[in-house]
Amino acid sequence: MSTVTISNVTKAFGDVVVLEHFDEVFQDQEFITLLGPSGCGKTTMLRIIAGFEKPSSGAVYIGDRVVSSEKVFVPPEKRDIGMVFQSYAVWPHMTVFENVAYPLKIKKMHKEQIKEKVDNILDIVHLSQYADRIPSQLSGGQQQRVALGRALVAEPRLLLLDEPLSNLDAKLRESMRYEIKDIQRKLGITVVYVTHDQIEAMTMSDRIIVINRGVVQQIGPPMEIYRHPVNQFVADFVGKVDFLKGEVKGGRVELTGIGQTLPYNGPLTGRVVVAIRPENVQIMDGPSLLNGRLQSKFYLGDVNDCRVSLNGEILRVIAPVETYDQVQVDAEIHLDVKEFLVYPDDGSDELLKIVT
Ligand SMILES: Nc1ncnc2c1ncn2[C@@H]1O[C@H](COP(=O)(O)OP(=O)(O)O)[C@@H](O)[C@H]1O
Ligand SMILES: [Mg+2]
Repeated sequence: MSTVTISNVTKAFGDVVVLEHFDEVFQDQEFITLLGPSGCGKTTMLRIIAGFEKPSSGAVYIGDRVVSSEKVFVPPEKRDIGMVFQSYAVWPHMTVFENVAYPLKIKKMHKEQIKEKVDNILDIVHLSQYADRIPSQLSGGQQQRVALGRALVAEPRLLLLDEPLSNLDAKLRESMRYEIKDIQRKLGITVVYVTHDQIEAMTMSDRIIVINRGVVQQIGPPMEIYRHPVNQFVADFVGKVDFLKGEVKGGRVELTGIGQTLPYNGPLTGRVVVAIRPENVQIMDGPSLLNGRLQSKFYLGDVNDCRVSLNGEILRVIAPVETYDQVQVDAEIHLDVKEFLVYPDDGSDELLKIVT
């Protein structure tokens, strides 16, 4: 069984704290994604799980076994973990078969057993017909699958992936997402996946851990993170959103500088920030909740990307393609807002800004 328990882990390099009080249990066979902007501490967390870094304080368990604590440190090769990093180092002078076989050779496994296991893994990563090629004869996606095969061949219960798709082109990235997910299901392994790409996180994860500046902001299934982001940082980092400032007054939010209001029955009072996702805004035929002026419209094939000026504040709208000819740039436009989020405007968002 491969649960991973991160128990109150803090990591500092010198005086700089890069991870603060990270505390969570990853379940057996769970697909967990660490999501956040560059520099937020994702790789550091993964390296701590792998045993390439020691936490400054706190402990890490894999299953029931403590692998890092004040007293214990199990080196990476004894942690029974498979790993693939962004810059996948497949050995250029070895064939695909030899690359994947390498971890078993080191374990001095018998030749026939190695062949059986490598053949099986090559089948899973769809590389059987390339077994005799060398990496330079393969595409980027195929090379990445070699790295994946090599990480999986020793049958680890836990697989760590650090931005494994970021060097691939967009189409390949998309198909590899499904392949990785498929492999995880077939093998029944726990995966900890690191990315700054919210689409990758949304499509593959059972749960996402959103991190900013070394601090966990929110942990939850993709839908929960998307629909109920706990703060402006999460709302902004996962999905598209526009923020409008306002003030709660008698069951409504008065939008600052816009002179229009939205209904609000929540607990907040005083100054607030309203977060609106563009797909939750609907273009209406006649006067509606909000009225503005269409600033631009872009036909994207499946939808239209519209920008509406509300007295100078811009609201994006994702509209069905049929509306393209019904709305004219510079003309008045009427909008309904199906769903929006309200956050306190207490200055706490200053702490949440993305640093890169
Ligand atoms: N070995 C190191 N020594 C000093 N600082 C480091 C080291 N490794 C990472 N950092 C710093 O820790 C922070 C988090 O880095 P990292 O975990 O690589 O972020 P991410 O993977 O989210 O981009 C960054 O500010 C980075 O510069
Ligand atoms: Mg990183």
